[in-house]
Amino acid sequence: MPNPEKYTYDKIGIWSEIKLEIIRKYAQAYSKIMAGKGFKYIYIDAFSGGGRHKSKKDGRLIDGSPVNALAVEPPFFEYHFIDIDRKKINALSKAVEGKDNVHLYNEDCNTVLLEKVFPRARWTDYRRALCILDPYGLHLDWEVIRTAGELKTIDIFLNFPIMDINMNVLRHDTGKVEKDQAARFTRFWGDESWREISYKSSPQLPLWGDCDTIKQGNDIVAEAFRQRLISVAGFTNVPRPIPMKNQKKATVYYLYFASQKPVAMHIVKDIFKRYT
Ligand SMILES: C[S@@+](CC[C@H](N)C(=O)[O-])C[C@H]1O[C@@H](n2cnc3c(N)ncnc32)[C@H](O)[C@@H]1O
Repeated sequence: MPNPEKYTYDKIGIWSEIKLEIIRKYAQAYSKIMAGKGFKYIYIDAFSGGGRHKSKKDGRLIDGSPVNALAVEPPFFEYHFIDIDRKKINALSKAVEGKDNVHLYNEDCNTVLLEKVFPRARWTDYRRALCILDPYGLHLDWEVIRTAGELKTIDIFLNFPIMDINMNVLRHDTGKVEKDQAARFTRFWGDESWREISYKSSPQLPLWGDCDTIKQGNDIVAEAFRQRLISVAGFTNVPRPIPMKNQKKATVYYLYFASQKPVAMHIVKDIFKRYT
């Protein structure tokens, strides 16, 4: 009989290996700068995974984002790792044994971030945070992104799952989109403005809900989301995201970075350049 507790590694593509490298490089630079300024800076991994994955390419075991963060020197003041999957948190707990400053949560990050974790990154407490928002699909609530921007203390990396969005929501025939799929995107995007942004409106063409609307390209949707991070969430420094592509050159997701600091943006632009 199969063991229900047996842990199987997630298999990750080359695009995820690149994402891990980008985040690792920035976390290292971030820690050096923050330590020099005397801040209490924390690392938050909201969709942490189990800490180790298998490469799709060659079956190698690859350290995940939380394990990479634990290796950063100087270390972060605190680590907060969240995953809704109990097996992932159990697997991760083995990697963090004996570390008092690591907090594990087997919960939905959309609740735990707002209620328990973000309050530990208050400006008035002289705290700062680096937060990784890396869902596989549309599992994130805009309220989390907006609150991170409002706090003014948090830098985020954000995975915008364009493949999930294209497959389930931004269909060429908008009449075929299921209501709950559209609602998932609205929750991630923060309001319904994605409908008009993602389809060309022309006096000759009917609008959303009819089958003749013209779907816009990924780049239009990605740029509109970048603008929302700036004008609605209140991040002042948001470079163009890096499109993470699979072997067939299809974009799986966009990796965004958002911060309040120009210097942070320059560091990330520099890192992005190496992978574009
Ligand atoms: C892309 S993986 C994370 C990989 C990890 N960041 C890394 O690079 O090593 C996404 C993870 O999010 C978890 N997840 C999905 N929905 C979630 C939610 N609402 N709250 C917390 N974790 C969630 C999944 O169980 C999965 O482990």
